[in-house]
Amino acid sequence: MDHSNFGRVFTIFLFLFIAPSLAQQSFRPKALVVPVKKDPSTLQYVTQLNQRTPLVPLNLVLDIGGQFLWVDCDGSYISSTYRPARCHSAQCSLVGDNACGDCFSGPRPGCNNNTCGVTPDNTVTHTATSGELAQDVLSLQSTNGFNPGRNVTVSRFLFSCAPSFLLQGLANGVSGMAGLGRTKIALPSQLASAFSFHRKFAVCLSPGSGVAFFGDGPYVFLPNIEASQLLTFTPLLLNPVSTASAFFQGEHSAEYFIGVKSIRIAEKAVPVNTSLLSIKSNGVGGTKISSVNPYTVLEASIFKAVTEAFVKAAEGPGWNLTRVGGVTPFEVCFSTENILSTRLGVSVPTIELVLHNQNTVWRIYGANSMVSVSDKVMCLGFVNGGLNPTTSIVIGGYQLENNLLQFDLATSTLGFSSLLYGIRTTCSNFNFTSAA
Ligand SMILES: *[C@@H]1O[C@H](CO)[C@@H](O)[C@H](O)[C@H]1NC(C)=O
Ligand SMILES: *[C@@H]1O[C@H](CO)[C@@H](O)[C@H](O)[C@H]1NC(C)=O
Ligand SMILES: *[C@@H]1O[C@H](CO)[C@@H](O)[C@H](O)[C@H]1NC(C)=O
Ligand SMILES: *[C@@H]1O[C@H](CO)[C@@H](O)[C@H](O)[C@H]1NC(C)=O
Ligand SMILES: *[C@@H]1O[C@H](CO)[C@@H](O)[C@H](O)[C@H]1NC(C)=O
Repeated sequence: MDHSNFGRVFTIFLFLFIAPSLAQQSFRPKALVVPVKKDPSTLQYVTQLNQRTPLVPLNLVLDIGGQFLWVDCDGSYISSTYRPARCHSAQCSLVGDNACGDCFSGPRPGCNNNTCGVTPDNTVTHTATSGELAQDVLSLQSTNGFNPGRNVTVSRFLFSCAPSFLLQGLANGVSGMAGLGRTKIALPSQLASAFSFHRKFAVCLSPGSGVAFFGDGPYVFLPNIEASQLLTFTPLLLNPVSTASAFFQGEHSAEYFIGVKSIRIAEKAVPVNTSLLSIKSNGVGGTKISSVNPYTVLEASIFKAVTEAFVKAAEGPGWNLTRVGGVTPFEVCFSTENILSTRLGVSVPTIELVLHNQNTVWRIYGANSMVSVSDKVMCLGFVNGGLNPTTSIVIGGYQLENNLLQFDLATSTLGFSSLLYGIRTTCSNFNFTSAA
């Protein structure tokens, strides 16, 4: 054996030895974290992501049941990594579009020939249009559940371009919507497959600054409270008929439904037509979770039954509240005179949504039921959805605030924490100071 042979053996050994540390350099996050701030004028929840090359920070309205990420490409979309999805490509079959679209005012992002399209939906105004499916770089912060970590990128993240007019009705400074719904191209699925982590995500909305996580817990809030350990679970139900503003026949809903079986107020059953609580084969009925409705919306007969039961209990012994005139959009309001404060918000009758069994109950306490409209008046934060709405109960943003919700797409399960005040923390208590 001569020296050159030794050298070769040594080189091979060194290569094998180095390989694991190279793998470590291509860092794989276990979860990602984004801030979610409430816009005080529209009551929308706005998150921030970085997209394009060079990276541009984008403010996007967070839509828990939204189908995918869509952004305004008419404005100034400048990126060296923008790629339209070519018709008949794997990307197009992922969204089930076998058509080929042309565009006559391009080429530019959002307007190219031989592309497939999707239907970006402004779920606040219920306006949908067609938009080019495309890919670009997306960058987010990783997390260990305690703090943000290093930034990671997805080089070919699928989204849709939309025309500027689709932004009408969204918060100032926003350039699109971030959909977290149950589709293959919504953020949770794309991020889970890009980084091979659990198909789970969690949302913790706040009246100020909240947080959302992609991937599994821990989800830790100051002072060192691991909220993912404190969840109650209920099945997520699939609505077989799309609830989007525009859709194709046979498309299921991207939104998350849960099985509310009955409602109790101050421990008494509220008489509601249970037929309205189930999702019928035409997609009508049932209960969904929505971050684009600022308050819970109830079908007219459910609204009447719930408000009557609430008023009766609130005016009765134990609370002795004085009802005053309604304040738009609320019909049921009380004088703040006799209202006491507790750890869970003002003391009012608890509203309970009984889920798949009698022991699985989503409890709505004063902090999530009562909205302060002035120094003298507080209102029940539920609104009347009228007769024959598509969905009978839409649990809205105000009722979700300071509750951690975890959506598990693999098992189709919702985990909910109940009001975090009960465990002495809030959704604004994630430590956004980077540990690095
Ligand atoms: C698409 O093709 C048509 C017809 O060939 C052409 O007029 C048009 O400029 C093309 N558009 C783009 C965006 O390339
Ligand atoms: C990582 O992303 C965050 C949030 O988008 C941003 O504020 C920060 O500047 C980024 N850090 C680096 C090193 O790019
Ligand atoms: C209950 O709701 C269903 C619609 O889901 C309706 O057809 C039925 O008439 C209602 N029953 C009563 C007693 O109001
Ligand atoms: C209820 O409140 C009214 C005035 O707000 C008061 O006069 C009355 O004594 C109270 N009743 C009880 C049982 O506390
Ligand atoms: C937030 O995290 C940073 C980085 O780990 C740490 O230095 C800081 O003390 C934490 N803040 C609180 C209030 O614990």
